[in-house]
Amino acid sequence: MIKIFQITDCHLDKKPNEKDIALKYLLSYIDNECVENKVVFLTGDIANCSERLAYERVAEYIGKHSNIKSCYAVAGNHDDVKIMKSCFYGTKIKIANEALIDGVRFLFLDTSQKPLGGTLDLGAGRITKKELYRLKKASRKNEMIIVSHHPLIKVGGKWFHKIGLENEKQIEKIIKRRHMVISGHAHDALSKNEGFIQQFIRLSSSYGFNHESEEIMRTADSGMTTYQIESVGGLPTVVSYEHIRITDSVTAS
Ligand SMILES: [Fe+2]
Repeated sequence: MIKIFQITDCHLDKKPNEKDIALKYLLSYIDNECVENKVVFLTGDIANCSERLAYERVAEYIGKHSNIKSCYAVAGNHDDVKIMKSCFYGTKIKIANEALIDGVRFLFLDTSQKPLGGTLDLGAGRITKKELYRLKKASRKNEMIIVSHHPLIKVGGKWFHKIGLENEKQIEKIIKRRHMVISGHAHDALSKNEGFIQQFIRLSSSYGFNHESEEIMRTADSGMTTYQIESVGGLPTVVSYEHIRITDSVTAS
C-alpha cells in the first residue's frame, strides 16, 4: 500500500508569503505521518507567473524533508514546464512521464500548453498531439492512474468550463474505457465519476474557489489530500482518502 500526498495549486509568488507558510505546514504534516512510502504529487500551478525563485523555494522546502521518498510534479496553466525542469534539475522533484510506485503505475500528463483556438479564457489548457499519442499508447497497456493539472472531464460551473481543456473530447475518447485521474486546478474538493472514469480533483494549498458561484469567487478553503492506494488484481485502487485542511491560525503564525 502506498500513501500519496497531493499538494496542488500552491501559486507561490516571487517573494515568500502566507502561501509558503501553508506549504511548509503541509510538508511538516507529512513528516508526522507514520507511513514508510511517502510520495508527494505536485499537481500544477506551483508558481504564479512561472517565477524561478518560487520553484527554487519549493525544491528547497521539499529537499529538507528527508522522509519524503519521492516527489513528482506536473505543470499547470500558471507554470512553464521548461523553467520547472531547469529549476528542479538535480533536486528531489521529478518531472516524469510515468512512474511505477509499489506496483501502481502513474502517468503524468502535461495539460499546461495554451489553447490554439480563441474560445476559452486565460487559464485553459491543451494537451499536445505528442502527449495525446503517449496517453493513447499507455492506456492500451496496464491499468494506470493519470495525474494532471486540469481535470480531464468537465466539472464545476460555466466559468470553470471556460478555463478547462481545449481538446477535452479527444481525451475523453481515449480514457473512457476505465481510468482513474488525479487533478488540481479547481481549488476545491470536487470529484466526479463518469462512465468508467473516476476523477479526483482536490483542494489547493493556497486558496479555494466557490464552484456554486456564477463567476470566479475565492474562498479560504485550502489544504491537501492524502490517498491510500494499492493494486488490487492489477487494478490501481484508491482504498481511502482524506482532506487535510489549513486553518487561519496556520497562516497567521
Ligand atoms: Fe490552474
